[in-house]
Amino acid sequence: MAIHVNTLSSRGLSTIIRYVLAVPCRKHTSLTTDLIENMDKRETWDRFYRERSDVSNFKNFEWFFGFDSIRDFIMPLLKPQPNSDRLRRILDMGCGTSALGPAIYRNSQWPVHVTCGDISPVAVHLLQKQSKSKPFKAGNPASKLDFLELDCCQLQAWFGLESLDMIIDKGTTDALLRSKEGQSKAGQALKQCLGVLPQTGFLLQFSDEDPDARLLWLERESGRLGIGAAKIGVHEVGTLRGVCYYCYVISPSSTTQ
Ligand SMILES: C[S@@+](CC[C@H](N)C(=O)[O-])C[C@H]1O[C@@H](n2cnc3c(N)ncnc32)[C@H](O)[C@@H]1O
Repeated sequence: MAIHVNTLSSRGLSTIIRYVLAVPCRKHTSLTTDLIENMDKRETWDRFYRERSDVSNFKNFEWFFGFDSIRDFIMPLLKPQPNSDRLRRILDMGCGTSALGPAIYRNSQWPVHVTCGDISPVAVHLLQKQSKSKPFKAGNPASKLDFLELDCCQLQAWFGLESLDMIIDKGTTDALLRSKEGQSKAGQALKQCLGVLPQTGFLLQFSDEDPDARLLWLERESGRLGIGAAKIGVHEVGTLRGVCYYCYVISPSSTTQ
């Protein structure tokens, strides 16, 4: 099964890296090596976002599809419970310079507090600067948007137990799982996510990893917290540049904590 996982992952990964580096960018060769081997390292991503960024003309970058392709997986889950106007807490975990977090903030008619968090201070700074230079208009006047440098392997240093309603992971667990030294970090991040979500909360992992591989991994890693510690589902999102993408939906269940 390990061979299966690696074969599928490398195919998707090389497609993505070929696409990512098909834009003007210096020193491609060593950056490609870094991306293939060290996507779990802050330095790799600082370099990636620094080399991509054009100071005079910032553009959001999506590792794969953006908000419009996945809004139907996200927005219905933000609908408040009847008689509740509580802010829904959402984390875009490993946001990079994606426009996803700001898009949720702009498009949600319900009050949301969106945090865009990443280990790369370069990425966080770029997003923050974009939002300061031209503030986004909230879809609901009570909504909030902020930016945070964080390590998803230590989420509980930033967020209390059961304090978030939704965590969106678009390519971040993929990046950890595909790094030479990232496997255990991916497991640690999953465990941390299950701790900061209540049973009514959702972790959405968007990934090109085939369900044969990812579901087994999710079941094995969440199973370390107790049998049936998480409810796990999967939906197909669609195909982009010949690669099929999925949305894995994970919720803590009563045995998690
Ligand atoms: C494949 S990129 C995806 C970026 C963004 N979500 C998107 O869709 O464009 C993975 C992101 O995970 C971030 N990352 C890697 N390790 C991390 C960690 N331990 N904690 C938080 N973010 C991390 C990287 O800096 C990078 O921005």
